[in-house]
Amino acid sequence: MIGPSGCGKSTFLRCLNRMNDTVSGCIVRGKIALDGTNIYGDKTEIVELRSRVGMVFQRPNPFPKSIYDNVAYGPRIHGLVDSRTDLDEVVESSLRKAGLWEEVKDRMDQPATGLSGGQQQRLCIARTIAITPEVILMDEPCSALDPIATAKIEELIAELKESFSIVIVTHSMQQASRVSDRTAYFHLGRLVEVNPTKQVFEDPEHRLTRDYIGGRFG
Ligand SMILES: Nc1ncnc2c1ncn2[C@@H]1O[C@H](COP(=O)(O)OP(=O)(O)O)[C@@H](O)[C@H]1O
Ligand SMILES: [Mg+2]
Repeated sequence: MIGPSGCGKSTFLRCLNRMNDTVSGCIVRGKIALDGTNIYGDKTEIVELRSRVGMVFQRPNPFPKSIYDNVAYGPRIHGLVDSRTDLDEVVESSLRKAGLWEEVKDRMDQPATGLSGGQQQRLCIARTIAITPEVILMDEPCSALDPIATAKIEELIAELKESFSIVIVTHSMQQASRVSDRTAYFHLGRLVEVNPTKQVFEDPEHRLTRDYIGGRFG
């Protein structure tokens, strides 16, 4: 999801796991279907929805806990594991999938806040995938990271998209064209266009998209 700052990308993303429910004055109209079921329907359990639709934020926000406990948190509260051995396995495999295992395996008991920004963001990704969501929402996950840490997250996204649906907001058109299969363009709180990424960048359907891609505003 791309578009000028303030055009509603984060707001839209937060509709996808009902994060806006807690924002007073926020009105959500319409339907959002996950596997055909409207997540704004009466039967939706918010806790279950959020376990299916995980989220990674703009600034890495690890809990003030150990590296291990950060990743173990979700499986513990959702009761996904019966034994310490199972939990150890989930923690290790999540950290491996997040490309962080080798860097942290010898300091699992140390505070997560001691990691670098890029490592913290990969830890947040490990924390999200530990509960095996179907969809992962990422709101400008690289905006607080340097180019090397950003490249690592992009590599990771390329791997993770084999197993999860990823919805990512980015202010970088280059990043959108590198990591995504489909691109959505937002303008003044509206979704203007969503199409295959190649088309959006080479032959967009809407004039507003063309102006933005062409650098005429934003
Ligand atoms: N569809 C909308 N209708 C009304 N207000 C909106 C809408 N989309 C966004 N906003 C408001 O506009 C502001 C910027 O939105 P935000 O989602 O943070 O933009 P972005 O992430 O693209 O920078 C916020 O105050 C948000 O509440
Ligand atoms: Mg935003």
